[in-house]
Amino acid sequence: MTDLRPDTAPVSDVDPFAPASLADPIPVDEALRELGPLVWLRKYDLWATGRHETVERIFRDPTVFESSAGTGLTNIKHEENWRPPSVILEADPPEHGKYRKVMTTVLSQRVIRRLKDEFRAHADDLVADLVGRGEFDAAKDLAEAFPLRVLPDAVGLAPEGREHLLTYANLNFQAMGPKNALYQEAVANAVDATQYVNWQMRRENLDEDKLAGSIFAAADKGDISAEDAGMLVRTFLSAGLDTTILGIGIAIKALADNETAWQALRADPSLARTVFEEGLRWYAPSPFIGRTTTCPVEIDGAFLGAAQKVLLLVGAANRDPRRWERPEQFDLARDTSGQLAFGTGIHGCVGQMMARMEAEVVLSALAERAGSVELAGPPAPKLSNWLRGYDSLPVRVTPKRG
Ligand code: HEM
Repeated sequence: MTDLRPDTAPVSDVDPFAPASLADPIPVDEALRELGPLVWLRKYDLWATGRHETVERIFRDPTVFESSAGTGLTNIKHEENWRPPSVILEADPPEHGKYRKVMTTVLSQRVIRRLKDEFRAHADDLVADLVGRGEFDAAKDLAEAFPLRVLPDAVGLAPEGREHLLTYANLNFQAMGPKNALYQEAVANAVDATQYVNWQMRRENLDEDKLAGSIFAAADKGDISAEDAGMLVRTFLSAGLDTTILGIGIAIKALADNETAWQALRADPSLARTVFEEGLRWYAPSPFIGRTTTCPVEIDGAFLGAAQKVLLLVGAANRDPRRWERPEQFDLARDTSGQLAFGTGIHGCVGQMMARMEAEVVLSALAERAGSVELAGPPAPKLSNWLRGYDSLPVRVTPKRG
């Protein structure tokens, strides 16, 4: 495919998936974004873009930029993949539409509103306990513990086997990137977890009164097949946990670093949503999305051949100075509309209201119970081919007085 690259487009030897890039990604994002609207990544034989306008335009053109060839680096139409494709994420119109419709109903505003009180009570319990401890790992003990406490029950997963959830999600995201050591390690660790997910997708192993039941109800109505319903349950296990966990961790890190933002949230806990949204803009937990061209296309002066992968650098676009003023600053006064951490267009995250609600109840509980939040040690970055955030985030909090 390299021969299709025009001589005029910038070429880069930067490797966004090198261990050093994954550990410190912002300079890499910036270098690739500033090189040009579209950059040829020589190491991977693909195009990349970190410009907000270009990323948004590609997200919104599923006819030319398809998802069914995979949304990672692998072209799953031609190369072997580690699992059968997702019926929603890795699908194009018109097939995508029927699955999207089911998931939009399953995760509707009404459903999220119904779950909120229960989620809030769990968040409050967890935060009260942690604030009482004084020091804890906000990545593990809060950002990770909370979604694991509430989401599997809301979906209707069986009590047994849940220890496999994060191992499976890790493989899901490592597999979107190159077949490097992180991927090989994730494959080796996930043998039991993959078996668990195949078991957990089956109707008889799910609680029919929960969200999974609504997915199978769509199968009973004949909107989708029973097998596809199981595949949609799988999307909860793949897409809904790690992303939210990292997003909440990023918001807490931003609060620990920004006294003004923390004081604003303390004074008005209803700012929790704004904190989460600006955190997602500032440090997108899911910084890469892939698309594949269905035909030759010219975009921003670059000529892309058919069947070429384009890597959308979402994290870079969310800090594009052409779109955002002082993009490196975490700023609660900012209008975050147009931030791309959830994608946009027909595949824009169908779970975003769930993610926002989970973050809101955790961050507002923290604001209501803690007087101060500060880092108690250096955070450890998450090392993943396809995700960003913190593996560990030691914090010290004081209880709120009065
Ligand atoms: C902070 C948390 C989250 C982030 C950053 C995030 C990010 C994203 C992004 C970027 C996409 C677009 C992918 C593409 O265009 O190819 C997406 C799609 C999707 N997300 Fe999320 N997500 C989050 C939470 C969730 C949750 C909580 C769920 C489920 C409960 C979920 C389920 C999905 C599904 C099923 C899709 C595919 C939608 C489609 O293809 O039509 N996500 N997400």
